Amino acid sequence: MPNIGKFYGVGVGPGAEDLLTVRATEIIKTADIICIPRSSAEKESVAFKVASKYINPQAEIVEISTPMTRDQAILNTEWQSGAEKIVKLLKDGKTVAFITIGDSMLFSTYTYLLKKVQRSLPEASVESIPGITSFSATAALLNMALAEGNEKLAIIPAIDDPADLRTILKQFSNVVLMKVAGKYDEILDILNELGLEDKAVYMSKLGYPDQFFTYDLESLRGVKKEYLSLILVKQEGF
Ligand SMILES: C[S@@+](CC[C@H](N)C(=O)[O-])C[C@H]1O[C@@H](n2cnc3c(N)ncnc32)[C@H](O)[C@@H]1O
Repeated sequence: MPNIGKFYGVGVGPGAEDLLTVRATEIIKTADIICIPRSSAEKESVAFKVASKYINPQAEIVEISTPMTRDQAILNTEWQSGAEKIVKLLKDGKTVAFITIGDSMLFSTYTYLLKKVQRSLPEASVESIPGITSFSATAALLNMALAEGNEKLAIIPAIDDPADLRTILKQFSNVVLMKVAGKYDEILDILNELGLEDKAVYMSKLGYPDQFFTYDLESLRGVKKEYLSLILVKQEGF
């Protein structure tokens, strides 16, 4: 029987092909198998596009279904079947790298798969490779501190009740709102109500050729938003 292969979770950064870490590119170049997250809505996996320059042409590409749903039963079934594919490859002695956008440990399918893989194959060796997050790359692009001195920074997935933002903004001077596409107008209403409409920036598709950002959030009211979009709020100003 072959030795069990190693499982890597590789954060490939926010989008630009020169914003991967050296370690990420080394693993992507040498892995036998590259697992790519793929939602049915995507024409092409975003993580695959970002990493494709570094992938060994001999590597086998395995798609792992990551449906765009919040239905926990569907997600669990898909993650379980993804984890089973990975476990089988590891048992065959393959080096398997699951690539994921941004950082591997932040809002990524990787961490759900990892738990299932570890449960079913505890003896497998695992290494998680961090990546540059979308919001740290946004702050860098705009030459804007994410937090200074004793400022508090909150990272919020804006998919539940945007009204929570009122309480969060009382406690945190700086807030990163991720997954804002579906709740944008409601978020904007709250920022306006709190007089913070000039203290926020919207960023979409950072690192991609069609990257876009604006400080005029009102100008995008009612406009369909990209899934890869976020808002940074800095209550003390930029
Ligand atoms: C599932 S989370 C993935 C987060 C990722 N692991 C990270 O570290 O940034 C997806 C959300 O990340 C944000 N995001 C990821 N890449 C982005 C990019 N290139 N530009 C703007 N926002 C991005 C968006 O808010 C998007 O809805």
